[in-house]
Amino acid sequence: MDSLPVRIGCLSVGDRTAEQAAAVEWCRSRAARVDAIDVTTESVPPLDADRRMYDVLWWHRDEPVDPDREAIAAAAPAIRGFLESGGGVFLSLHALSAVELLGLDSVPPDAAGTERIDHPSGFAAKAIHSDHPVFEGFVDRFYTLPAGDNRPFARYEAVAPARGQLLGSAVHAGELLPAHKEILSWRVGEGHVYGVGARVEFAANAAGEFSVDRDRFVSNILATLGGDRQPAFTDRPTDAAGFDRLRARLADDHHRPSYHLSPPAGWLNDPNGIIHHDGTYHVFYQYNPMGPFHGTIHWGHATSEDLLTWRDEPVALSPDPDGPDRNGCWSGCAVVDADGTPTILYTGGRGSDQLPCLATAGDDRLHSWRKDPANPIIPAAPDDPAVLSTDDWTAEFRDHNVWAVGDTWYHLIGAGLSDGGGAALLYRGDTLRDWEYVGPLLSGDHNVANTVWECPELLALGETSLLHVSNYRNVRYFLGEPDLSTPEFAVETEGLLDHGALYAPQSTTTPDGRVLMWGWIKETRSVDAQWRAGWSGALSIPRELSIGAAGELVQQPARELQTLRSEPAFDDRVDLSAGEHRSIAATDNAYELRVAFTPPADTALELGLCESPARSERTVVRCRRDEIVVDRSDSTHDPDPDTSPVRMPIDADGSDGISVRIFVDGSILSVFANDRHCLTTRVYPTRSDATGVSVGAPDGNLSVRSLTVWPLAASSTDRSVWNHQDRQ
Ligand code: FRU
Repeated sequence: MDSLPVRIGCLSVGDRTAEQAAAVEWCRSRAARVDAIDVTTESVPPLDADRRMYDVLWWHRDEPVDPDREAIAAAAPAIRGFLESGGGVFLSLHALSAVELLGLDSVPPDAAGTERIDHPSGFAAKAIHSDHPVFEGFVDRFYTLPAGDNRPFARYEAVAPARGQLLGSAVHAGELLPAHKEILSWRVGEGHVYGVGARVEFAANAAGEFSVDRDRFVSNILATLGGDRQPAFTDRPTDAAGFDRLRARLADDHHRPSYHLSPPAGWLNDPNGIIHHDGTYHVFYQYNPMGPFHGTIHWGHATSEDLLTWRDEPVALSPDPDGPDRNGCWSGCAVVDADGTPTILYTGGRGSDQLPCLATAGDDRLHSWRKDPANPIIPAAPDDPAVLSTDDWTAEFRDHNVWAVGDTWYHLIGAGLSDGGGAALLYRGDTLRDWEYVGPLLSGDHNVANTVWECPELLALGETSLLHVSNYRNVRYFLGEPDLSTPEFAVETEGLLDHGALYAPQSTTTPDGRVLMWGWIKETRSVDAQWRAGWSGALSIPRELSIGAAGELVQQPARELQTLRSEPAFDDRVDLSAGEHRSIAATDNAYELRVAFTPPADTALELGLCESPARSERTVVRCRRDEIVVDRSDSTHDPDPDTSPVRMPIDADGSDGISVRIFVDGSILSVFANDRHCLTTRVYPTRSDATGVSVGAPDGNLSVRSLTVWPLAASSTDRSVWNHQDRQ
């Protein structure tokens, strides 16, 4: 049989193992030419750069690389030469661990060995790569290995390759393990490398269970590497054109937001290091370029001059396998040091430690960052109060908020407490590198075990200060007065910043003195659904925070967003009789709706949003005097997402009524009531035409003083406010 028109050199170090011999035999029954090459005895020419003899070099290795490091390193120049000139290299099982020795990536897999797997296992392609030729013929998931002992594997778990992209992760008995990163690719010169660290075995399962899909998968890899149609697409772009291509891949997803900040693809959580610098807003964010799941956290970066048009910038911080941030560059802030240097303080995760780290900007566009050689700059969590220790972490101690008062820097770090609850711990320093512990500025949630006050932030809102913390469930805020010497925060009032899926917000001050806050909008669908979508998470629209006449917290959408409004799709008063229900508009799901009315007691206004033409999918925002509820029970036919109601108490009794602004953007729905109460949630209608808007008065007559719907799209053909046009 000659089904693979590919000339393959099968590499080994010394004698071939039974598994390697089986792989050679497997090739011989298919490929145009197959030679077994012992890299310790064969001369270099077969691997030479002119590719006279082979299209693909396949290194299949069922034993750890360690004993053969020298031999592998000795073969590296020839293999690199082969790649540089356009050859293809396939590294399977433990050979994936050789990427560093071969000079292909500075970060090798962090997990390798043998494992027992009690069930069939295989792979799930990443959505963004589902059309990659190595997945030809597969839909979604496929299985290549039956249950068994001593299965060799090498994979990236807690770390990510520095350059390689992830094509697919492991599936065990139907369960997706996204962090088991096993199928990867690299571009080296003109050549390509594919790595598959597990589940391709031949000796014990020549023609057994799952061998059909294994054969197809391995044939796809060898045929692609040996062919002349290599995919050029990468989901780790470093320039504007690359980010454009990445976003374009997800453009048809009607759940993607257009005017909210979203990751180009992959995972996003907290906003970080928000700063207005040299006329530009920089928003960094917790980003996993490996895929839409939390892990291997980098700092993604987006910039804007006007808060309306955003550009993707290259990833700003990446974990360093030799540094204290090996397992992730976690949340932090950016400040400008006394000498004018933009400086990031962030949490580095390594093993069971999470400790404060510092990086300084190397250029004005904040693209390059130099990590401080003295990292971590605080060597351990304080011990009074005792900081919570968990199975994962020696001390739950992370996230940074830094500001200056005169010549003194202050620094808040979030923590969990051994005795329950969380705390915002205060430090003081003359420089950004030398910190003295002052004590907890505030602690709370004492009756909640194993919680952490994440991402604390202290903001000056005129005479009043606002402290907020994210306690795993909500974002709690406290208004009052801090005493930075005791330290103590005298709480006058408190509340929730948002009643829905907003978390870990962070703020900056605009040149005209406004405090703007962004938060992470979580997904409310499963890990699997996020994997299938190819992206996860978004940042909220910026909110302006201030203190109202009665000393209350005011939260309003940043005024800049009004510039996005186009001609209203509806703008009128509406008089509804009891039981009446009226469709008013259908636009893309990218709009702002503003409604003002004074409901009699026990009477609700129902706003139907994201309605399909037959109204089988619709989300109802039910507004009463004392409460707004987002009823998601019919929001989607998809059984996956959370469709529980989201409630927000409001206090419109005796006031001028209710004024609500709602922002819909793809799957994001945010409600601002009376400039005070906020609720952010997610809805995932299956139909892309679930874009209708209606109003109804189920309980009694109701007059709506004004109702306006503004489409917020830049234009109907290009909904996205992401723009690379003007980048140099
Ligand atoms: C909050 C948080 C932070 C941490 C980061 C990790 O969502 O858990 O405490 O620094 O996310 O991504």
